[in-house]
Amino acid sequence: MSFTLRDLAYEDIGTVGELEQELFPTDAWPLEMFYTEFFQPDTRRYLLAEVDHRVVGYAGVMVLGATADIQTIGVLPSFEGRGIGRAMLTELLHEARARGADNVMLEVRADNPRAQQLYTRFGFEQIHTRRRYYRDGVDAWVMRLLLPAEEGPRA
Ligand SMILES: CC(C)(COP(=O)(O)OP(=O)(O)OC[C@H]1O[C@@H](n2cnc3c(N)ncnc32)[C@H](O)[C@@H]1OP(=O)(O)O)[C@@H](O)C(=O)NCCC(=O)NCCS
Repeated sequence: MSFTLRDLAYEDIGTVGELEQELFPTDAWPLEMFYTEFFQPDTRRYLLAEVDHRVVGYAGVMVLGATADIQTIGVLPSFEGRGIGRAMLTELLHEARARGADNVMLEVRADNPRAQQLYTRFGFEQIHTRRRYYRDGVDAWVMRLLLPAEEGPRA
C-alpha cells in the first residue's frame, strides 16, 4: 500500500471533519475550526494523506515567528502503523523550518502513548503538564522540539 501527501483544499474540509469525529471522539474540532485554519495560509499549512484517492489522514502546523505548533495530526485506524503519521510530521517540520521557526510545540493527551512515541522519535520532549486540559479530564503533555538550524530531524 502506498500513500501520497498533498495540501488540504477547500473542498476537502467536509471529509476532514468526518475523520475528525472518528479520530477524536471526545475532543473533535468543530468544522468551522478547519475553515478558520484553512483561511490563514500565511501562518498555517495543512496536509492530507491519501490512499487510492481516499483521504486517510491529515495534519496541520501553525507558524508564528520562531515558534511553530503542530495543530493536529491523525490517521484512520485501519491505516495506522504504515508511516503516514511520520511522513506528515516530517513534512510539517520542514515547513516550520522553512518559515523560520526554531522550536515546535504540541499538546498530546497523557493517555495517548502511541502519539507520544511518534513525537519522541522526532526528538520532542515533554516540558509541561496541563492538568485536566481535555474535556474528559485527561491531562495534556506539552511537548517541544528545538529545530536544528540546518539539518532536519530524522524519523
Ligand atoms: C498518532 C498517529 C497520528 C500515528 O500515525 P501512524 O500513521 O500510525 O504513525 P506511523 O506509522 O508513521 O508511526 C510513527 C511512529 O508512531 C509510533 N507507533 C506506530 N504504531 C505504533 C503502535 N502500534 N504502538 C506504539 N507506537 C506506535 C512509533 O513510534 C512509530 O515510529 P516507527 O514506525 O519509527 O517505530 C495515529 O496513531 C493516530 O492518528 N492516532 C489517533 C489520533 C491521535 O492520537 N492523534 C495525535 C493527537 S496529539
